[in-house]
Amino acid sequence: MRYARRDAVLREMGLAPVWRLRAGGEDGVAEAIDVLPESAPVAAELDRGGAASSLPAEPVPVPVPEVRSARAAIPVRDLIPRPAGAAVPVEASARRDDGDPARAGRIAGMDWDELETDIRACGACRLCEKRRQAVPGVGDRRAEWMFVGEGPGSEEDQRGEPFVGAAGKLLDAMLAAIGLKRGENVYIANAVKCRPPHNRTPQADEIATCHPYLARQIELVRPRVLVALGRPAALALLDAEISIGASRGRVFRRGDTPVVVTYHPAYLLRNQADKAKAWEDLCFARRLMRELAEKA
Ligand code: URA
Repeated sequence: MRYARRDAVLREMGLAPVWRLRAGGEDGVAEAIDVLPESAPVAAELDRGGAASSLPAEPVPVPVPEVRSARAAIPVRDLIPRPAGAAVPVEASARRDDGDPARAGRIAGMDWDELETDIRACGACRLCEKRRQAVPGVGDRRAEWMFVGEGPGSEEDQRGEPFVGAAGKLLDAMLAAIGLKRGENVYIANAVKCRPPHNRTPQADEIATCHPYLARQIELVRPRVLVALGRPAALALLDAEISIGASRGRVFRRGDTPVVVTYHPAYLLRNQADKAKAWEDLCFARRLMRELAEKA
C-alpha cells in the first residue's frame, strides 16, 4: 500500500520508468527509493571544502561550483557548529546591496502581518505595475523546509498563492515524493512577489529589490534547509549566478542555513528527462535534513 502510493507519486513526477530501470523490476520498489538517492552521506559532501570536522576527510578533489559572483555560492564546509570565536565565513557576512538600506532595515524588523501587508502594497519595482496582486508566500511558518521559486505566474497572480498552476502541481508531486506536503512543515515563497509580465524571468535588479522580503521570510521561518528551485531562486538565495547542472548534489549556505539547488518545476515540465535528476536532488536534500536533525 505504502509502495503503491509512492509508485503513484513517482508516476506523477514521471519517474516510474527510471525506478524500474534501476530497481530491475516491480519487486524492487522499496530498494529503488533508497539505493538511488541515499548512496553516500551528505555530510561527506559538506566536508569536501576542507574545513576541520569530526567526519572523515574525503580524498576526492571536488570541483568548485560554477559561480560568477564569488560571494555566497561556496559549498558548505562547516554546518557542524563552529567553535566560539571562529571567523564568520565571508558568505555569511557579505550580503547583496538591497537598494534602499532604510527600506531593507524597516522590512528586517517586520512581523508576519506587517510583512505581508507591506508586500501586498509594494511599489518598489516595475513589477507592481502589471500585477493583479502580490503573492507573499504560503505554508507552515515554523517549517523546517523552505522552497523558493522564481516568481508568480498567471494563476498565482490571480489566486495570490505561490505554485498553484501546472508547475505547482508538479511541485506538490515532488514534495510528496519525499514525504512532504504543502503547508505541513513546508513553507513556499518566491524570489519576487509580483508576476513578471508574460511570465518572463525576473531580472537581477527586481530580485535584489524584492530580496529584503525573502530575507525576512527566511528569518521568520528559520528553516533547517532551503531548496532553490532554478537559477533565479539560487541567485536570490546565494547572491550568485550558478549553473544548476553544475551545482546539483552540493550544499551551499546562506548564513548558517544550508541551501540545496535543483531544477524549477516549470523547467521540468518542458524537460521531462531531468525529472530523475530533480528526484535525486530532493532525496539528497532529505538526507541532509535527516543528518542535520540527528546532529541538532
Ligand atoms: N513558478 C514560480 O517560480 N513560482 C510560482 O509561484 C509559480 C510558478
